[in-house]
Amino acid sequence: MRMVDLIQKKRDGHELSTEEICFVVDGYTKDQIPDYQVSAFAMAVFFQDMTERERADLTMAMVHSGDTIDLSAIEGVKVDKHSTGGVGDTTTLVLAPLVASLDIPVAKMSGRGLGHTGGTTDKLEAIPGFHVELTSEDFVGLVNKNKLAVVGQSGNLTPADKKLYALRDVTATVESIPLIASSIMSKKIAAGSDAIVLDVKTGAGAFMKTVEDAEELARAMVGIGNRVGRKTMAVISDMSQPLGFAIGNALEVKEAIETLQGKGPKDLEELCLALGRQMVYLAGKAESLDEAEELLKEAIRSGKALEKFKVFVASQGGDPSIVDHPEKLPQAAYQIEVNADADGFVASITADEIGRAAMLLGAGRATKDSLIDLAVGIMLNRKVGDAVQAGEPLATIHSNSEDVADVVELIRANIQIRDHAEAPVLVYAEIT
Ligand code: URA
Ligand code: CA
Repeated sequence: MRMVDLIQKKRDGHELSTEEICFVVDGYTKDQIPDYQVSAFAMAVFFQDMTERERADLTMAMVHSGDTIDLSAIEGVKVDKHSTGGVGDTTTLVLAPLVASLDIPVAKMSGRGLGHTGGTTDKLEAIPGFHVELTSEDFVGLVNKNKLAVVGQSGNLTPADKKLYALRDVTATVESIPLIASSIMSKKIAAGSDAIVLDVKTGAGAFMKTVEDAEELARAMVGIGNRVGRKTMAVISDMSQPLGFAIGNALEVKEAIETLQGKGPKDLEELCLALGRQMVYLAGKAESLDEAEELLKEAIRSGKALEKFKVFVASQGGDPSIVDHPEKLPQAAYQIEVNADADGFVASITADEIGRAAMLLGAGRATKDSLIDLAVGIMLNRKVGDAVQAGEPLATIHSNSEDVADVVELIRANIQIRDHAEAPVLVYAEIT
């Protein structure tokens, strides 16, 4: 087989065989095919697309390019959740204990990552004593005992995707549905779960700016998952404004606890239920999505979900008394309000720019070696559609530096007040 022939075949709009796709992925992983040929291949895929079969083959070839996690020692159907990424997305911190409290195993491998705030691992490390360094035996043992554990990323998962994603980044081939879908799904499948629930975000703070694009990506990923034997469902959700009120690591832990107590932000609760009901249904614990949702609501009402959070925190070295004493979480030295300069209704809170403001405060990493400050971030006092009067707070900055003039400016420039505004739709569609 010659790479040049495969590039030409794809360029001319033909379907590649399983063997041909494996040849490309294996050869690239082993440095036998150079970047320039794979760049040309990615561009051909960008213009010619891939069939569902080709997408599944590309995904599985990337899965087999490195290590895979074996969760077979964990009893029950393991369901994982993945978000395409947003601002102030606190859902994992709520969903993991909530779903686990229904006796569904949640075996979460989580990274730190770059972004507006830290990843789930960083957020959890805002809890004094909490750690994610577990041996695989301890990880499996904890999930079997408590139904929930979070472990730091280890092993060499999907090296082909790492290489290809980096190449796409510099060759204008990131925005391709088959390439994005196979990239995300390869990582989820290598992580070992039996079933996968996807939260595909749309809007200013999302990778997919329009609902149509988000839906196309969701369908592509659901198609791949089901084809390779992992039951997969998806939700399309709004990321035009940040999710919930909190954007920041310790601030989001507090927000997650409040949501588990049934007094969290309405949008965060609604999205957790929308994703959670798919997780519970795929785990086989309910006959219908509506029945699954009732089970989740009852787990919040009864306090079972909150209790699970405490057990989980304690089991990984954390101090569970933060649930009743959130002031024990890292606190920022200064709280500075950003006030409205006119009466009206909040018409937009541009998610990506507010995320950038949180990162400027130190809540997220700009590069993989940056240090993050777990205490800092932004609390929104208003959401889109809320009424506000001049002088009332729109947002409160939690900072460890007094000089936040640039952050105040950035927030002010990205919260618009108009005479009329309504809250946006939160969940656009469910792909089942
Ligand atoms: N996120 C991924 O993991 N892969 C892509 O290709 C795009 C976004
Ligand atoms: Ca939030």
